[in-house]
Amino acid sequence: MTAATTLPVTLTALQQMKARGEKIASLTCYDSSFTRVLESAGVEMFIIGDSLGMVLKGHESTVPVTIADMIYHAANVARVGQSALRVVDMPFMSYANPDQALGNAARLMGEGGAHMVKLEGGADKAAIVEYLVGHSIPVCGHIGLLPQSVHQLGGYKVQGRDEAGARALQEDARALEQAGAGLLVLECVPAVLATRISAAVNIPTIGIGAGPGCDGQVLVLYDMLGITPGKRPRFVRDFLRDTCSVPAAIEAYVAAVKNTSFPAAEHCF
Ligand code: KIV
Repeated sequence: MTAATTLPVTLTALQQMKARGEKIASLTCYDSSFTRVLESAGVEMFIIGDSLGMVLKGHESTVPVTIADMIYHAANVARVGQSALRVVDMPFMSYANPDQALGNAARLMGEGGAHMVKLEGGADKAAIVEYLVGHSIPVCGHIGLLPQSVHQLGGYKVQGRDEAGARALQEDARALEQAGAGLLVLECVPAVLATRISAAVNIPTIGIGAGPGCDGQVLVLYDMLGITPGKRPRFVRDFLRDTCSVPAAIEAYVAAVKNTSFPAAEHCF
């Protein structure tokens, strides 16, 4: 993939990148100005993430994010987006049953311009994934740390550290692929486990805090620009610190993902 392409990046293109061993560069994106900057830097896939509840709206978690929030921000991105594949998060409690999920996913695509929707959960969500895919809605799975379940998990913790947890995550990945998911986000899992999962599934895996063995990487945009307050998570690198501008920082991120210098050992669990 060349930088600054205006050709639309499709799911098929991402699958071909996995097959070639070419890393996929992804970032979160929530507005039209950053859409232009990120696409010019060669970012191939956007996650219009419900992390917007924290980094844009100032909430303590992603739980208060609504479907209207997601449509508003996804539409801002879609209005000017030309090349990157747009994956839009289904917010908390917007996919509690298949019909509710279908109605909300249809709105994210129709009103928000999503190319694909993302939902959190593993084998327990396979029936919902299958239902959406059966209605021509591409779905990205999300396993490992599930921010929408933070109150149930008891905090933002690395997942799959013990044998039973690792086995469960591998089974989740397999169940989601079998249900028709086209991509899989792995959040905060040990690098060795993420490498194993990435090799076991045929769909591209996109890691955040999951090590270099994933098929691609994603970070929350404001984290990698070093403007999120508080302690920086281990898996985040501040790309603005060593560059002279926001566009240069994004270009440095894309280059580091492509040449596999990010994530380095110090960013892994
Ligand atoms: O909401 C979000 O930002 C995410 C990350 C995994 C990219 O889901």
